[in-house]
Amino acid sequence: MNWQRGLKGRVKAQESLSRRTTFKIGGLAEFFVEPRDSADLKLLILAAKSSKVPILVIGAGSNILVSDRGVKAIVLRLNATLFKRISYSRNVMEAGSGLMLGHLILAAGNHGLSGLEFLAGIPGTVGGALAMNAGAWGRSISDLVEKVRVMDYNGTTKTLGRKDIKFAYRRCSLTGYIILSARLKLVKKTKKEINENIKKFLGYRRNTQDTSLPNAGCIFKNPPANSAGRLIDLCGLKGKRIGGACVSQRHANFILNQGNASAGDVLKLMRLIRKRVKDKFKVTLEPEIKIWG
Ligand code: EPU
Repeated sequence: MNWQRGLKGRVKAQESLSRRTTFKIGGLAEFFVEPRDSADLKLLILAAKSSKVPILVIGAGSNILVSDRGVKAIVLRLNATLFKRISYSRNVMEAGSGLMLGHLILAAGNHGLSGLEFLAGIPGTVGGALAMNAGAWGRSISDLVEKVRVMDYNGTTKTLGRKDIKFAYRRCSLTGYIILSARLKLVKKTKKEINENIKKFLGYRRNTQDTSLPNAGCIFKNPPANSAGRLIDLCGLKGKRIGGACVSQRHANFILNQGNASAGDVLKLMRLIRKRVKDKFKVTLEPEIKIWG
């Protein structure tokens, strides 16, 4: 395969994805690529297409469980400076998809722009948050979206308006695209108010969620009008362990990697949780995390 020819960005073969995911689990990516700019990205997409190698976009690696066998794919990370740009126009902020949400929230705050604070503490990128319509405390990033700039898998760049994109709970219709940037509509507030909001949301998160060990956030989506964490808790599964994977004592929808968990351990624990919740409540839990490989 000579698809790397002409690429200006970084290409690594046989990259361990346990180093690249917040779960710290997973085998090797056949290739791990960080294109330098949109032209480079286009070159990569077209080369991957003609070589029939699938592309997987990793974001911050925070909502993914990678198989122990790894993935036969190009894992794409938009980490170059050009994919992390920020610009402002009155109360609208345009942010590159590779930017971490934490940086986005701080930059907005420094500009006196509010609306993103509820996302504080989510360890994701702008692109990843859009792709899964990340949210917390009853709100989602989609509430703020005005436009999204994307590249399709033919290398064509386009701008989609809010009405061209379907968002739902932890879902969005941008799956056929690589997200490049988003225009987000915010409101003016003082830096003091914004910082207080950020502190409040980080406090809620600290008090209810578990970041003591590597994890991938909530494992299952919430069923309609219910909480997956509450249902798993009511099944008495807090602390349940398979191999190195363990249900958090603090929040039952979190699985912790106790140091040596395999993807197999996590999947077995997920199957057990689904079965117990199904048997007890007749509710089928759907994974929120993406499973690769
Ligand atoms: N609960 C329990 N036991 C538990 C966990 C929760 O009884 O082990 C109860 C809580 O006491 C509360 C209810 O369940 O009454 C809801 O819990 P929580 O407020 O923690 O929210 P959640 O529904 O479990 C959702 C999102 C989180 C988001 C929080 C805050 C999903 C799957 N989870 O959690 O998102 O941070 O609300 O808004 O939508 C994520 O997406 O990765 C994530 C963590």
